[in-house]
Amino acid sequence: MRALDKGTAAVRSAVKRLIGRTGFDVVRSTNNRGGVDDFLPFEATMRAARASGLSVGDHIDEVMNGTPGATQSTVDELRTLGVYAAKPDTVLEIGPGSGRYLEKTLKECSPSRYEIYETAAPWAAHLVDAFGVVARPTEGSSLAPTPDGSVDLVQAHKVFNTVTFLCTARYFLEMARVTRPGGRIVFDVMTETCLDPAAVHAWAARGGAGHDSYPAAVPRQTCVDLFESLGCALEASFLAPMGIGSTEVLVFAKGD
Ligand SMILES: C[S@@+](CC[C@H](N)C(=O)[O-])C[C@H]1O[C@@H](n2cnc3c(N)ncnc32)[C@H](O)[C@@H]1O
Repeated sequence: MRALDKGTAAVRSAVKRLIGRTGFDVVRSTNNRGGVDDFLPFEATMRAARASGLSVGDHIDEVMNGTPGATQSTVDELRTLGVYAAKPDTVLEIGPGSGRYLEKTLKECSPSRYEIYETAAPWAAHLVDAFGVVARPTEGSSLAPTPDGSVDLVQAHKVFNTVTFLCTARYFLEMARVTRPGGRIVFDVMTETCLDPAAVHAWAARGGAGHDSYPAAVPRQTCVDLFESLGCALEASFLAPMGIGSTEVLVFAKGD
C-alpha cells in the first residue's frame, strides 16, 4: 500500500473507531418509525455484549459509548435526589432500547407494573422476556393505552436527543398526562447548558454527513415552562455524558 493510501486508511479507521465509540451516533430516527437498525442492531449488540463478558448495558456504556459507568452514575444521582425513595409502584419508560436504565431502575425499586413504549420490536420483545415488563403499542408519540394519572415514575433516557422536536413535544404532553399527582417525570435533553461554543464546535466537527434528527436540542426553559403549565415543577437537574457531549437530566414533580 502506498504511504498516502495507508494514511487515508488510518484516518478512515480512526473515524470508524470514533463513530463506534460514540455508539448512538448510528441513530436515525427522524421518521420515528424506529426500526431496530435505526438505533442498535439487536442480534449484533447482544453477541458483542456476550463476547465482552459484560451485561448489554455495561457493554454499551463501556465499549460502544466510551463512557463506562454512565448509566449507573445517572441512576445514582436520581437515587440521591430521592426519586426512588417514594417506592414507585408503577413505572413507564419511553424508548428503553437495550434496557440499560430499565434494569438499574428495577434494582432501585420493585414496581408492580413497568410499562414500556419502544418502537424497536426485537428490543421490546427481549425486555418483556427478560424483565417481565409490559410493552405497549408504540406509534409516533402517544401513550394512549396508559390512563391519566396512573404512573408514579415516567422516564426516558437518551431518547429526546434522537427524535424530532414535535415527537418530543407530544411525548412531553403525554408524560404529564399519565403521571399521578405526586409522581416524578425524569428525562434528559440536550439543552443550552450542554451547548457552549466548544460543544457546538465539537458536534459540528464530527465526521460524516449528519445524522438526521440526532443530536436534537430542546431549550431548557421551554421544558420548564411547558411542564409548569401542566402542573409539574422542576425539582432538580444535572448533566450526563452523551457521545462527545452531554445531555441535561431534568427531574419534575407533578403537583398533588
Ligand atoms: C438512543 S436510543 C436510547 C435507548 C435507551 N434509553 C438507552 O439509553 O440505552 C433511543 C431509543 O428510542 C427508541 N425510539 C425511537 N423513536 C421512538 C418513539 N417514537 N417512541 C418510543 N421509542 C422510540 C429507539 O428505538 C431506541 O430504543
